[in-house]
Amino acid sequence: DIKGFAFDLDGVIADTARFHGEAWHQTADEVGTTWTPELAESLKGISRMSSLQMILDAGNHADDFSQADKEALAEKKNHYYQQLISTLTEDDVLPGMRDFIQSAMAAGYKMSVASASKNAPMILDHLGLTEYFVDIVDPATLTKGKPDPEIFVRAAEVLHLDPENVIGLEDSAAGISSINGAGETSLAVGISDVLSGADLNFESTSEVTLANIKAKMQ
Ligand code: BG6
Ligand code: MG
Repeated sequence: DIKGFAFDLDGVIADTARFHGEAWHQTADEVGTTWTPELAESLKGISRMSSLQMILDAGNHADDFSQADKEALAEKKNHYYQQLISTLTEDDVLPGMRDFIQSAMAAGYKMSVASASKNAPMILDHLGLTEYFVDIVDPATLTKGKPDPEIFVRAAEVLHLDPENVIGLEDSAAGISSINGAGETSLAVGISDVLSGADLNFESTSEVTLANIKAKMQ
């Protein structure tokens, strides 16, 4: 029996995955790594410092930058990202997601947020959605990021639910692995091949409804 939902934020609730992509694209250009759609896809769900490391590795630049340089690059990316999201409004909730969250609440499901982003609380605030969630897992308290299961394990714990009673929603391959590893039901949003490991697949957020989920689970 499903009793709760653990939501990724960027690319599931908020239309912000494209802003992370744009900001990382700029970082890739600065360090001399070729930006490709595959690299962009592989960075989804990955923490800030690990994303930077993947960009450096993709261009064989890992040894060209000191730890201090890396921290400065990550800081600069975040600054650019925060500029891009500074104009976020309630209209930047992805299609159907506000309705889905409200109807899940009305139906008695408990909800938490499992985002790798340290900007998540601020974004939820801008979108006017904070009040719907029992808790937002703080990624700063994790020992390992996605694809490790830790974040989705914690997202069930804060709901006081067993993982088997939780559906995790994700738009990234790393996030689907994390949900599957946590023993929850994984729901993927998006049309990428890299999401084929999910239990339930939805092409877009507008199709994510309680009725459609129930139909797919049978
Ligand atoms: C995830 C995004 O939600 O958060 C990643 O999918 C991002 O692209 C990660 O790198 C960390 O975000 P932030 O805001 O802490 O840099
Ligand atoms: Mg995401």
